[in-house]
Amino acid sequence: MIVVLLGPPGSGKGTQAKRLSSERHWPQLSTGDMLRTAISKGTQVGLEAKALMDKGSLVPDSVVVRLIAERTEDADCKAGFVLDGFPRNAAQAEALDLMLSRMNRKVDRAVLFEISDQELVIRLSGRRTCIKCGAMFHLDHAQPKNPGICDACGSALIQRDDDHPDVIKKRLEVYHQQTEPVVGFYARQEKLKTVDARRKSSEVSAELHKALS
Ligand code: AP5
Repeated sequence: MIVVLLGPPGSGKGTQAKRLSSERHWPQLSTGDMLRTAISKGTQVGLEAKALMDKGSLVPDSVVVRLIAERTEDADCKAGFVLDGFPRNAAQAEALDLMLSRMNRKVDRAVLFEISDQELVIRLSGRRTCIKCGAMFHLDHAQPKNPGICDACGSALIQRDDDHPDVIKKRLEVYHQQTEPVVGFYARQEKLKTVDARRKSSEVSAELHKALS
């Protein structure tokens, strides 16, 4: 099954994609994570992406479409995969359909995470991410056992460069202008389901499984 998780920054796509990936053994394909890996390795793609990501703007379509095209050819994507943060505009959604049709595949379900902008600002400004394994915590409602230290691997927790208030505002604007049209794209294909992303993580997970059944 090929699943697209859609929703504004901070709505919980990454949290649920990781969970779904471990429960159903589908890899999580996160363009944000792929770009952050490229930045940490200092590749050309990473150098170009960093300035745009730090401002809250989108990275060019050609870059992210290539990342996804290469990754979907890997053997572990055969049984299915979860797209997290891609597609992010109408052009990417069309490129994805074309790419998959050439492989005789298609998106089976798109799930929209619904939540207000106010809640997102609280979530993102309190998010802390493990520098090594990517595990996520929150200063108020998902605190690590030891402050600043990852429960999973013991590495340092950091605040993402794009989780500062001015950049969060810009990311939300970009979402409303460029990503919201993707919701209509999948609704017209009758593949769209929604989940209430304000609920507890375990409840969102249960709703997500229902949306995929
Ligand atoms: P990306 O990394 O994709 O970030 P995003 O979409 O902005 O989403 P986030 O990772 O911030 O949030 P999320 O929805 O995954 O929520 P999370 O689970 O982390 O993209 C970053 C940048 O890369 C973009 O701005 C762009 O520049 C570039 N980029 C990426 N893809 C691109 C593309 N396709 N095209 C062009 N550019 C691209 O949760 C957030 C917080 O909330 C955490 O602290 C978590 O613990 C907490 N939380 C999660 N669920 C719950 C819950 N149910 N209740 C309470 N707290 C919760």
